[in-house]
Amino acid sequence: MHLTRRYWFSASHRLHRAALPEGENRELYGKCNNPGGHGHNYFLEVTVAGPIDPRTGMTVNLSELDAYVEARVIEPFHESSLNEQPQFGELVPTTENLCVEIYRVLKEGWDRLDSARHARLERVRLEETGSNFFEYRGSEPE
Ligand code: NI
Repeated sequence: MHLTRRYWFSASHRLHRAALPEGENRELYGKCNNPGGHGHNYFLEVTVAGPIDPRTGMTVNLSELDAYVEARVIEPFHESSLNEQPQFGELVPTTENLCVEIYRVLKEGWDRLDSARHARLERVRLEETGSNFFEYRGSEPE
């Protein structure tokens, strides 16, 4: 069974690499390099895969999943400047990198999700605008 839950948060970012000269940053990132940054409403989809637990009829308890995603992703990122998050000190906060980072923080504490004992984190999909979205399924197949 695959179960996907949808969330959203808003955050701002500026695409910029301190190691590069100003001109190269502008050329590389265009308007996304504007010093003031800009915001997005990010739509996040978290897909969980696993068997249906015969005791509950569920793959994962949605309220438990919600609380977990809320604490690990929404709470820290909502209404924040991504550039000021500790993980984006050196790492450019593109939506590719953000997508991988969200996967990483969700994966990191996955064992604490009691109802997900038999289910795994399958996919993180992050929508930046109506025209582009990113997906990450981890670095290695499980
Ligand atoms: Ni942007």
